[in-house]
Amino acid sequence: MTNLLAHLAHLEIASPDVEASVRFFERGFGLREVQRDEDGSVYLRCWGDYYPYSLVVSPGAQPALVNMAWRTTSEQALEEAARRVQGKGVEGQWSDKRQGHGRSFRFTGPYGHTMELYWDVPKHSAPAELTSIFPDRPEKRSSHAAAPRFLDHVTVAATDVKGFAAWYSEVLGFRTMAFTELDHAPVTVFGVLTTNEKSHDLGCVLDSSQLGGRVNHIAFWTDSHQELLVAADVLMENGVDIEYGPSIHGVGEQTFLYFREPGGMRVELNTGGYRNYVPDWEPNAWKPSLGSNSIYRNGAMPMSMTESFPPDPGRPTATEEGVLPGTEDALLNPYAQQGQG
Ligand SMILES: [Fe+2]
Repeated sequence: MTNLLAHLAHLEIASPDVEASVRFFERGFGLREVQRDEDGSVYLRCWGDYYPYSLVVSPGAQPALVNMAWRTTSEQALEEAARRVQGKGVEGQWSDKRQGHGRSFRFTGPYGHTMELYWDVPKHSAPAELTSIFPDRPEKRSSHAAAPRFLDHVTVAATDVKGFAAWYSEVLGFRTMAFTELDHAPVTVFGVLTTNEKSHDLGCVLDSSQLGGRVNHIAFWTDSHQELLVAADVLMENGVDIEYGPSIHGVGEQTFLYFREPGGMRVELNTGGYRNYVPDWEPNAWKPSLGSNSIYRNGAMPMSMTESFPPDPGRPTATEEGVLPGTEDALLNPYAQQGQG
């Protein structure tokens, strides 16, 4: 299959408190607001995003993924991708122009995640005061807060990780890069897929709920390990608990840290990792004991990391249980051996 999708272009998330979320993403994390819609959606960008925005925060009762938008490799690829999705019995909808990009095809996949595909999108044009001295940079480098460079990936939750990977690989041409299985049971708890040379721009964790369409985290990129460590420090100095990390995942080999934004969504900052260009790559099965979560194999993932969004009403959250992210209680929980990335 020729490559249909080029990369993740933007994410739309819901927040029960849009203003608090936007304030945090701007002042606490280092994105910049670029636009507001009458319906209350706020558009934000990182300094290095190539298009006008990469994150839309919209009003919603609970933290959730509203939409994940991918740029196709051409107009023809957009047509072909839509044909393939519809060939699987998923109807989808075409829109002429919305949210500042050209015509798009929007559909909800078999595990309940809404995905939008488009080709036509304007390049970012920086205001005069933010124009970089370097021609390839969409905007001046920022040093504010964590100053993430651009949007990196999204990790969703589905009731069948291998089924999820198979559908998106077969229909849209994602390469499946790795799986994680539990050490003591033949259960696949995590998988990573990619449209390009990165280890993943789409992750999937096992969803124990039947809610459908849930998300585990959204992730932004920073250029170096050192910048990520400083970001962790600055976040903590500003009252943001680090849920997990900084450390390095075995799967993908990225340096990571996770925290929650005020709307409740988990956000990751990551850097590093390998490049993989192998067209017929076969995914290997990792185990937590091999270092899938933390390559140093010396600390279990906090139980709170298995929470996806919207929250499962049948399961108490880490906060409700009094288990704060990263505390010893969480680290001792046996379920903390699940995979993550
Ligand atoms: Fe991630």
